Amino acid sequence: MTERLEDIAVAMVARGKGILAADESTGTIKKRFDTIGLESTADNRRDYREMLFRTNEAMQDCISGVILFDETLRQSAADGTRLVDLITAAGAIPGIKVDKGAKPLPGFPGETVTEGLDGLNERLQEYHELGARFAKWRGVIAIGESTPTFGAIKANAHALARYAALCQANKIVPIVEPEVLMDGEPGTHSLERCEEVTTLVLNTVFDELADARVRLEGMILKPNMVIDGKNARNASVEAVAEATIRTLKRTVPSAVPGIAFLSGGQSDEEATAHLSAMNAGHDLPWNLTFSYGRALQAAAIKAWGGKKENVAAGQRAFSHRAKMNSLAACGDWRKDLEQAA
Ligand code: 13P
Repeated sequence: MTERLEDIAVAMVARGKGILAADESTGTIKKRFDTIGLESTADNRRDYREMLFRTNEAMQDCISGVILFDETLRQSAADGTRLVDLITAAGAIPGIKVDKGAKPLPGFPGETVTEGLDGLNERLQEYHELGARFAKWRGVIAIGESTPTFGAIKANAHALARYAALCQANKIVPIVEPEVLMDGEPGTHSLERCEEVTTLVLNTVFDELADARVRLEGMILKPNMVIDGKNARNASVEAVAEATIRTLKRTVPSAVPGIAFLSGGQSDEEATAHLSAMNAGHDLPWNLTFSYGRALQAAAIKAWGGKKENVAAGQRAFSHRAKMNSLAACGDWRKDLEQAA
């Protein structure tokens, strides 16, 4: 495996490939399993992720890397093969979520700062030994009546920059993820408001990255799309694509090799359509792809339903979604291709 940060970052956003975010914490995966009435045990979590990582077609053709949770990085498949080895055997790169979640920020009602910097250097050393070559840290910015405040944006951007510098010192590519929520409360904000907040957030993040001496060539940005809130949603695919491209062009230096979006609560097809519209007919300085959690997994988890006899159906659903997003990463997705499944 290649070891230069720049090469790993470029491989993570290779043409037609994107990242599978399978790094749900124990609490989040329980919520996903609740939707299919499945108990969240270590074995069930392993079986589910093993099903995804053994989906050869999707993994080899469409997935450049997989973000894992600590438990999964250490787990083995039912036959004893390490899950990390299944991922690398498919030609994808293992990554690891290293933040410890968004916690209330004192003095800033309703706002959070992401924790996890203490001891991070040592954790990154171990994660590298276990096979991780990139990491993820998510800062969360919610849009409300009088939020976000600049104080909270700055605290999150500073933590992201500290994290990114520590990753690079340990030969791990940082995914820098400042998420402006679409599905927070009240979720009634406009596309314009999301553009204004996302612009301020990204400007602040890149200021902090520069101050922390982070090498832009060796990182990946994972932003939200510029989109109206979940309880306001009526912006067209074209409007979302145009606003997102405009915002990224104004704020993201061209030295960054790639931008991999989160899906943030969009439906599977919306997330795909938006990505494809951004890639079709735009001349962009960075590769634009996906790093979806829900929008890559929702159909697979439903088709699987926690049952052994449905593993092939779950894999077919994952393959289809991965293929649609792979096409979108090239600007080649069309709605009628969805029916082919
Ligand atoms: P979603 O695509 O479900 O938003 O998850 C991506 C992710 O990794 C959030 O941190």
